[in-house]
Amino acid sequence: MGRIVYLNGEFLPEEDARVSIFDRGFLMADGVYEVTTVIDGKLIDFDGHFARLERSLGELDMTNPMTRDVWLDVHRQLVARNEVEQGMIYLQVTRGASGDRDFVFPDPASTPPTVVLFTQANPALVDSPKAKKGIRVISIEDLRWGRRDIKTVQLLYPSMGKMMAIKAGADDAWMVQDGEITEGTSNNAYIIKDGRIITRGLSTDILHGITRAAVLRFAQEAQLPVEERSFTLDEAKAADEAFVTSASTFVMPVVEIDGSPLGQGTPGPLTTRLREIYIEESRKAAL
Ligand code: PDD
Repeated sequence: MGRIVYLNGEFLPEEDARVSIFDRGFLMADGVYEVTTVIDGKLIDFDGHFARLERSLGELDMTNPMTRDVWLDVHRQLVARNEVEQGMIYLQVTRGASGDRDFVFPDPASTPPTVVLFTQANPALVDSPKAKKGIRVISIEDLRWGRRDIKTVQLLYPSMGKMMAIKAGADDAWMVQDGEITEGTSNNAYIIKDGRIITRGLSTDILHGITRAAVLRFAQEAQLPVEERSFTLDEAKAADEAFVTSASTFVMPVVEIDGSPLGQGTPGPLTTRLREIYIEESRKAAL
């Protein structure tokens, strides 16, 4: 049996959920999204994702179509109806379908947004074989637009970056701007040198990761020094450890950059510890 998904106020079998060909998400990538993790059938960092959704919508002059409590209820109903123990919920809000193609935003009074949510089960999220081995990344130029802090659905370049990595026999790509790492194709990037965790500061150059905020908070609580600053590709290659964070990977060790192994070429001790802390603390706070 297929999934039950949510579309504009209704819970439907996935095969019955239909969106207009004039939807601006489809024609113009005019929409935003969030990915929230589910562990033990509960939501990780729901309020962080909700806050970022509000911000993304606001930056694009869209209003949030539902209150926090309604969003939470829809998330919970989807988890229950699809019996998700481990996995994620994808949500997308687009500027809707005005019945034609136009660069001008339609009047929201006559064109309501399109709201879609669906679940993706992944039983290997916590006990991930990839996290035990670590991932290999290549570096590519960051050719995305300048408002990466807005979580829009325009993911073509990140998707191309992932394909470049796979073609090169690696797992993912880190993007580079003016010699410095911005982030991974769908995650924030970190290095560890002499016990210090280094990650680029927040700006319009990167997505303000919800996992990033949690991991930096947990690191500080564990008295691990954190430096929020840009770092170069050369610095990354000379690091002791590296990792990425995202809702779908938590803390994922990086063991190789452009073919150069980091440390022993296996997940580093601080990265492994941060992953454990993140999973433990997030589980405790799940809704
Ligand atoms: N990606 N940077 C980029 C470019 C991302 O796409 C993501 C998330 C992150 C990490 O953000 P967070 O910790 O809030 O998940 C950073 C999601 C998981 C995705 O596109 O599937």
